[in-house]
Amino acid sequence: YSAVELIRSKRDGHTLEPDAIRWLIDAYTSGRVADEQMSAMAMAVFFRGMTDAELSVWTQAMIDTGERMTLPGLARPTVDKHSTGGVGDKITLPLAPLVAACGAAVPQLSGRGLGHTGGTLDKLESIPGWRAELGGDEMLAQLRDVGAVVCAAGTGLAPADRKLYALRDVTGTVESIPLIASSIMSKKIAEGAQGLVLDVKVGSGAFMTNEPAARELGERMVALGRDAGVRTVALLTDMDAPLGLTIGNALEVREAVEVLAGGGPGDVVELTLALAREMLALAGLDADPAEVLASGRAMDVWRRMIAAQGGDPDAPLPVARHSEVVAAEASGVVQRMDAMALGVASWRLGAGRTRKEDAVQAGAGIELLVRPGDRVVAGQGLLVCHTDTPEAFTAAREALAGGIEIGEQSAPPRPLIIDRIV
Ligand code: URA
Repeated sequence: YSAVELIRSKRDGHTLEPDAIRWLIDAYTSGRVADEQMSAMAMAVFFRGMTDAELSVWTQAMIDTGERMTLPGLARPTVDKHSTGGVGDKITLPLAPLVAACGAAVPQLSGRGLGHTGGTLDKLESIPGWRAELGGDEMLAQLRDVGAVVCAAGTGLAPADRKLYALRDVTGTVESIPLIASSIMSKKIAEGAQGLVLDVKVGSGAFMTNEPAARELGERMVALGRDAGVRTVALLTDMDAPLGLTIGNALEVREAVEVLAGGGPGDVVELTLALAREMLALAGLDADPAEVLASGRAMDVWRRMIAAQGGDPDAPLPVARHSEVVAAEASGVVQRMDAMALGVASWRLGAGRTRKEDAVQAGAGIELLVRPGDRVVAGQGLLVCHTDTPEAFTAAREALAGGIEIGEQSAPPRPLIIDRIV
């Protein structure tokens, strides 16, 4: 095959043959197709899309560039969850131990954050001593002994995606539904779990800001899972406002621990339980996650899961050195607390990174003092910004500008769980 011919073919709206796709992905991963050629192909896919058959072959070809794990020797059914990314989305932290406490094994290979959405590993790394990197044997042993493991994905899973994602990131080709679907699903299928629940975010703080696009992403990912023999379900959930009352690494861990202790914000609890029910149904287990959460057994698994990776579940979490309250400029009802604005502000405060090699601040981020729908008076605190680097307050205030609206209507609440895609 010739890369140029294939690029022209996709550019002109033709369908790529399975063998051509397999050749392209393999040749790109091994360096025989150049970055500039793959960027042109990604842009052609961005505009022309992919048929279901093309997408299925593309995804399988990405998986075939690495290993597909098998998770041998586990007595429990394996099931995982993946979120397409949001602001304040700490759900994995209470969810993985909860589902493990209900009898499943949860292998959650996660990433670090880039841009305005946080990464699960960054959050957990705010716990003193906790380490993200585990060898394959260590991971399996923890899955067997504790039932839940959240760790860094090794370089062996879908290496094509590692390369392609970095390329898309700098060529304006991240926001393509088939490219996102194949990127996420190649890694998740390679991870080897028998069941997978997808949390597809829609709203200002998500990749997909409108519902039809998010629904299409969910449908295509569910179809890819099925094709590959993984039982897959997706929930379409709201990301116009942040989840819960905290954004930022240690702040989110604190909130997750509150949920495991039986408290925490209602939306975080609701989504955790809804995703847990889906995961348990896929795993064929009929435990009641609300009961297990209330019993404290999920907290026990959390403590063992953290300790198994060197973390001290009793150690105080890092706190940022400086904080500043952002107050309401007028009285009225909070109409909107824009997830993107708050996510970017938290990132500016130091909770996120701009380049892959940047460090994140464990204590930085935002605590919400009010939620959309709450009545406030002028001068009342709306949120608290936290950072170790107080010069960041200015950038955070700029990011927040216009993101919080106060008005007179009582805005109708949008449901957190919008739909279920099977
Ligand atoms: N997350 C991924 O892993 N890949 C994408 O393309 C988008 C989000």
